Amino acid sequence: MENFEQRQHGERAILVSVSVQLLDDVDAEEFRLLAQSAGAEILEHVSVQRQKPDPKFFIGSGKVEEIAELVRALDAELVIFDHSLSPAQERNLEKALKCRVIDRTGLILDIFALRARTHEGKLQVELAQLKHLSTRLIRGFTGNLEQQKGGIGLRGPGESQLETDRRLIRVRITQLKDKLIKVQQTRLQGRAARQKAAIPTISLVGYTNAGKSTLFNILAKSDVYAADQLFATLDPTLRRLEWDGIGTVVLADTVGFVRNLQHDLVESFKATLEETLEATLLLHVVDSSSPNMPEQIEAVESVLKEIGADAPILHVYNKIDLSGDTAKITYKAPELPDRVYLSAHSGQGLDLLSQAVQQCLMGQLQQFDLVLKPAYGKLRTQLYTLNVIQSEHYDDEGDLHLSVCIAPHKLEQLIKQAHLPLDEIVGAKSFLFHRVLEEFESKQE
Ligand code: GTP
Repeated sequence: MENFEQRQHGERAILVSVSVQLLDDVDAEEFRLLAQSAGAEILEHVSVQRQKPDPKFFIGSGKVEEIAELVRALDAELVIFDHSLSPAQERNLEKALKCRVIDRTGLILDIFALRARTHEGKLQVELAQLKHLSTRLIRGFTGNLEQQKGGIGLRGPGESQLETDRRLIRVRITQLKDKLIKVQQTRLQGRAARQKAAIPTISLVGYTNAGKSTLFNILAKSDVYAADQLFATLDPTLRRLEWDGIGTVVLADTVGFVRNLQHDLVESFKATLEETLEATLLLHVVDSSSPNMPEQIEAVESVLKEIGADAPILHVYNKIDLSGDTAKITYKAPELPDRVYLSAHSGQGLDLLSQAVQQCLMGQLQQFDLVLKPAYGKLRTQLYTLNVIQSEHYDDEGDLHLSVCIAPHKLEQLIKQAHLPLDEIVGAKSFLFHRVLEEFESKQE
């Protein structure tokens, strides 16, 4: 597929991987891919090990000299560190190396800036970049920065923002936040309408380059940009589709995950993952041919946990044409699939995916008849906000009878969070009640 973003000449960059006390989880290959995704031409890749970070340069002064020599000899324009640097360290390094320096956060933000496609995604990226930039306004190396407009780490809000003062940046940040609230409200309205119609939402999540967009395109028969670059997708892309044997579903493609995503980045991009939080089912797409598969799975699942995504997960082990696995479904319990092995490229195992999704969705979005005492009004408010109430009436005692269509795990969670008696609300005969009772009994044993 044509890559419209690749520049004619990459920015000439030296990469520096740093591991402190061997505690850091350094993945040199991924770092190279990230830098290439941002359009860098890699001149040299230097590895540094430290007992502890140096407060002034992060790395030792001997290494700084070595890299400064490389910058001169190779005529590098940029040095990229695979670690976060404090604004002061970045400034000191720029002075010493006499060229521009960016850290891992700056690099990832730059890739996000290149990849943002929807209005909301663009606003999110600009906001995150401005926040990052506002701490780094005073630059150590100003040499020929003016001529480097649009270089790595400077795209999006752009170099002109560097020249404006902090007050202007604050004004822009406030404007962006207001705009984002409006865009998010519009999106919420769409989601509420979907929930009212009880349409399941299936979100594709996964490590960057796992094959989410490719799978999304096949399922949605659409043409979302898929490329062999990291972060080809930034925004959740939604499609309503008729899935054979399953019915109407909304499918959401999401931004790829990476390891060591800093907390503030996770915060900034939460909005791009919001569909994930509301999903009925998560399809966790895994690159089964990657040598780093276990770490990648772990990275995705820890971010999902961090953002509070609690929907059931079906693992999709993609790229079996490369890994040599056979197409199959594995189960964690009878009728409860855990993994599907397939290839989005060759199409092997795609029929199994439909079968597994169908099994996972059974037991989802069930109809429940609830009885709420007048004191349980807060639960009704929450159900109302979720838009899952189908009908309601009061009886002679003043109790409220509700008919709701909701995923059992969600209902269970709401009732538990409100510390309300489950058996009284849902009724002793319900599936939910039995499940909780079984759990209780197994704990007693
Ligand atoms: P991000 O947008 O970076 O998060 O990536 P993604 O998970 O959306 O990955 P994408 O669909 O862009 O695929 C990444 C690369 O893997 C592309 O070059 C795809 O053509 C390739 N790919 C996807 N599925 C398969 C597969 O089953 N087999 C093989 N061999 N390659 C695949």
